Amino acid sequence: RVPVSALLQRPADAVGRPQQAAHPRIPLPADLFAPERRNSRGVEFGERAALDRLLADVRAEAADLEPITDATPDQANAAVTAARAGFASWSRTPAGARAAALEQAAHLLESRGARFIALLQREGGKTLDDALSELREAADFCRYYAAQGRKLFGNDAAMPGPTGESNALGLRGRGVFVAISPWNFPLAIFLGQVTAALMAGNSVVAKPAEQTPRIAREAVALLHEAGIPGSALHLVTGDGRIGAVLTAHADIAGVVFTGSTEVARQINRTLAAKDGPIVPLIAETGGINAMIADATALPEQVADDVVTSAFRSAGQRCSALRLLFAQEDVADRMIEMIAGAARELKIGDPSDVATHVGPVIDLEAKQRLDAHIARMKREARLHFAGHAPEGCFVAPHIFELKQAGELTEEVFGPILHVVRYRAENLARVLQAIERTGYGLTLGVHSRIDDTIEAIIDRVQVGNIYVNRNMIGAVVGVQPFGGNGLSGTGPKAGGPHYLARFATEQTVTINT
Ligand code: SER
Repeated sequence: RVPVSALLQRPADAVGRPQQAAHPRIPLPADLFAPERRNSRGVEFGERAALDRLLADVRAEAADLEPITDATPDQANAAVTAARAGFASWSRTPAGARAAALEQAAHLLESRGARFIALLQREGGKTLDDALSELREAADFCRYYAAQGRKLFGNDAAMPGPTGESNALGLRGRGVFVAISPWNFPLAIFLGQVTAALMAGNSVVAKPAEQTPRIAREAVALLHEAGIPGSALHLVTGDGRIGAVLTAHADIAGVVFTGSTEVARQINRTLAAKDGPIVPLIAETGGINAMIADATALPEQVADDVVTSAFRSAGQRCSALRLLFAQEDVADRMIEMIAGAARELKIGDPSDVATHVGPVIDLEAKQRLDAHIARMKREARLHFAGHAPEGCFVAPHIFELKQAGELTEEVFGPILHVVRYRAENLARVLQAIERTGYGLTLGVHSRIDDTIEAIIDRVQVGNIYVNRNMIGAVVGVQPFGGNGLSGTGPKAGGPHYLARFATEQTVTINT
């Protein structure tokens, strides 16, 4: 077996090192999404052979996936009761031991990489490039939260105080955390939520998206094997109805949710309507993410970064680019170059290494996206339409809108909307971005420092990417999450995340 770790950068390298070091270096043929990989500098020929062996291992793992049945409401309630009992011992397990279990989980993930890549491709429709990135991100979350947890939960912080008295502030687990995760990062976001809650001393009931329960089930088995007690971590599969049973339960102490703004609101209402303790919600939702590209931007770089940001992962990332503001003077040329780059994308079977854009998650998603494309064909100007094979595929499209306000909701697929703007109207562009109410990611392509600074100063979004693509936040390098309609914060993969899963306790002792 090829150790996948050989193909992944160790997360320890990702933290505190230049971002470049955090990316896996895998020479994929015709890899438009990672232009640096077309350059052979630093790429060992041996890696190609390792990749071929990995692909053979992935193919071997793809067989025999048994179906998973949904939990009943009674089973969901029983899981909360069992997690409540498990909290008593897990919350008293030393932080070092909790962290060691997460580190072991990262190690197991890497050593069983082929299995998880196969699952990500089969159940999540991920291309190899996306599956590898996700595996790396999942292992990064385990190690990052372990490292943060050792610091934050290892020792209570001594506070200053008068002579004859000791004062200390410590973080403690809250109780049972319900973790509800999405299908678009069925391994990384699932494990990110669960490991953060566990590291903070909570027991967890995890409810993965109904589209991706197998990945979740194997990830939970792996965490149990790594040393998380069965009583501290429970898996409950099913759709939103099961999620609703969990969030309505009287004995939960917190909810972490990633998904749509609408569902986050529903959860918020459920929590608010309950008697008993006030239960916090950590929500990461969507965005109508914009990029501003002015006339000083490097055209080839803009084309490459727009194609990556809008079409990679079939646009099924909450960070993905939906709305490109192109300065009028260069807009025609810019759109032409983006369309040219998009034309090169291969859409199809995600297990083929040459594929850039795999399927969308299910038929319902395809129908929703097809309906949006049909509406745009009537109401907007079509600049580019790719060709998708039969099945659950949606080809990349580029439409031009007259005004940004015509895009009123997040379109979760490979559809780019372009709006032209005049240089003197940059303030109106920023207002239009603000008016969406979302605040997740923003891209800027410009070589004018004043413009970049003015945009950063004015726009309230969680993650701003300047002169690069705007997806693929790296754990511990680009803490990720938004505000407004995009979520509550804190940022996943950032230094403030774990504390929000905990409660604080001050102990004052008269000595
Ligand atoms: N963390 C992911 C990204 O940055 C979110 O979808 O792309």
